[in-house]
Amino acid sequence: MSDVAIVGGGIIGLSVALRLVQRGADVTVLDGGDEGAWQVAAGMLAPGGESEHEDPALIRLMERSAELWPGFAAELGVEVGYDDTGTLSLATTADDVAERRRVWARQQLPLLRPSELRALEPALSPRVRAGVFAPRERQVDPRRVVGALRERLSDRIVPKRVESLSDVDARTVVVAAGCGTAALTGLPVRPVKGQVLRLRGEPGLLRHVLDAAVDGREVYVVPRADGEVVVGATQEERTDRLVTAGGVADLLRAAIDLVPGLAELELAETTVGHRPGTPDNAPLLGRLDDRVVVAAGHFRNGILLAPVTADLVAGLVLTGEADPALADFSPRRF
Ligand code: GLY
Repeated sequence: MSDVAIVGGGIIGLSVALRLVQRGADVTVLDGGDEGAWQVAAGMLAPGGESEHEDPALIRLMERSAELWPGFAAELGVEVGYDDTGTLSLATTADDVAERRRVWARQQLPLLRPSELRALEPALSPRVRAGVFAPRERQVDPRRVVGALRERLSDRIVPKRVESLSDVDARTVVVAAGCGTAALTGLPVRPVKGQVLRLRGEPGLLRHVLDAAVDGREVYVVPRADGEVVVGATQEERTDRLVTAGGVADLLRAAIDLVPGLAELELAETTVGHRPGTPDNAPLLGRLDDRVVVAAGHFRNGILLAPVTADLVAGLVLTGEADPALADFSPRRF
């Protein structure tokens, strides 16, 4: 019997495992090999851009985790694509500008004119009407992060699909099973489908992460140093795994309207993931009962929230004391 079993081998389960191992716990990660949102995620670390509908406690948690990311990335000891160039949040039509203004005002960032935006990012279309530069909104490559975590924790990971928590032989069980958390715990975690594309070309077309409203469509464009460009994402209350013609067309239309040069790139991957949503779309972090702790339901922010989740959940498991930052995220709040 191990001290702690973590159900779920995605970015949340592995990050919690890393912190527990570092603090001397006997940890096993049970990895069912299920789809995880990290497999398709672009890796935007965007506490401002992703905060439009969020409550203040969640925004504080997101900001705290964004602060932790540079150290977390460095500590993994290999290149994980952490890039602090920053994000341009952009709008094309007058309606798009109106839609973005609230987030921009909350971020207290100065509005930039199209010429100023194109000076920062020459590949932008002349259609861009306004935007802001958010230097603290950054990116990391989730596939590299999970690869690095798996490498570090290779002696702790057991390939095993858990159907019932009663089958898990450990004093404490941390459920970090993303959308699978619902079946294991009965908690209200629902899959929210996202279609995500990967384009490939020569590096250098773009420097910044772009997060835009284009003709009423939300799109983000995340350039990696090696020439990959991630374009995302649809947000659909659906459980299927279909890449649809309409989903791909909408994403490509918006992305190419924003950056015409993207039309020349190879369409290298079309993928579908499911974000683990909750009724208030805030995560479930904390104790469910004497044996079970939950770290799930991170919705659009699983990558951003991994470091803070790891610290808070490992602290709870090891000390039995809940950090005050966990108060608003109890898995028993519904
Ligand atoms: N974090 C971006 C998304 O969920 O699409």
